[in-house]
Amino acid sequence: MKTRRNFIKLTALGSAAVFTSSCLTSEKENVSDSKLQKDIKKPIVVSTWNHGLEANEASWKILSKGGSALDAVEAGVKITESDPNNTSVGLGGLPDRDGKVTLDACIMDHENNCGAVACLQDIENPISVARKVMEDTQHVMLVGEGAKQFALEKGFKETNLLTEKSKQAWEKWKEESKYQPVINSENHDTIGLLALDENGNLSGACTTSGMAYKLHGRVGDSPIIGAGLFVDNEVGAACATGMGEAVIRIAGSAIVVELMRNGMSPTDACKEAVNRVVKKHKDLTNLQVGFLALNKFGESGGYSVYAGFNYAIHTATQNEMIDAKYNREW
Ligand code: GLY
Repeated sequence: MKTRRNFIKLTALGSAAVFTSSCLTSEKENVSDSKLQKDIKKPIVVSTWNHGLEANEASWKILSKGGSALDAVEAGVKITESDPNNTSVGLGGLPDRDGKVTLDACIMDHENNCGAVACLQDIENPISVARKVMEDTQHVMLVGEGAKQFALEKGFKETNLLTEKSKQAWEKWKEESKYQPVINSENHDTIGLLALDENGNLSGACTTSGMAYKLHGRVGDSPIIGAGLFVDNEVGAACATGMGEAVIRIAGSAIVVELMRNGMSPTDACKEAVNRVVKKHKDLTNLQVGFLALNKFGESGGYSVYAGFNYAIHTATQNEMIDAKYNREW
């Protein structure tokens, strides 16, 4: 009998059998089962933190008209990137300790196409540059000056991303001369946004200005496919927020997708990934990490190390915030 569990239950991560074409074909057959199709909640878009509500609205405009998940995820996170009052993403992001705003972003579609930029300066919408890397080059990631040069060649406008508000915050930080970046629910961190469109296709986008007052050149998890974001159209999609170094160490988003492949719900998969973060780090001081996942059935869930992580879900009926479950209190 075809069950939901059977559909997403493939062999364990690392088994070559997972990737055989016969296995993938049988999955596709299961998806086209009419009862399952009826049960799928689509379209749907989910995204991290309170800024996700506004981003979801932009994505929904596309999804509700039958548009693609890829267009929806790009349009959604661009809203957050262009918001000068958001100090953790795009324009207005807090700078590194040298006063430079450096942006990281990646995007991935339902056909495993992906693109990323890291340590990109002076360009307001790194997600759109990442999409250009995906669509117009044979590469996955461009960084630093090369990424900027590519963006300018593609017609992106040079913009000063350091707003007066962020400049003042940086100057105050310099006076105190501390190097203590803290990522928590006040800083609101990365936007990761995942969408499932009317055709049942998944895409994801992830974008951030990274850890405030980081060393110049530091790159977090957000532009790294498999860490900050991963999409497998036969299973689901996941993204991460929080301390990027901890997410990279466990290949966070890829692990969440593989756990869903093995039958876990989105929430349980995110919880297990958080458990790995907790297990692999002796010092959990200020080590906030949150995962958000969306499976092929339009089911979503999130989980974080500390209390405070939340995410926004937009369905046909509402756009609402959900408080994620967590491993511990601050
Ligand atoms: N998660 C964002 C960063 O660590 O840069």
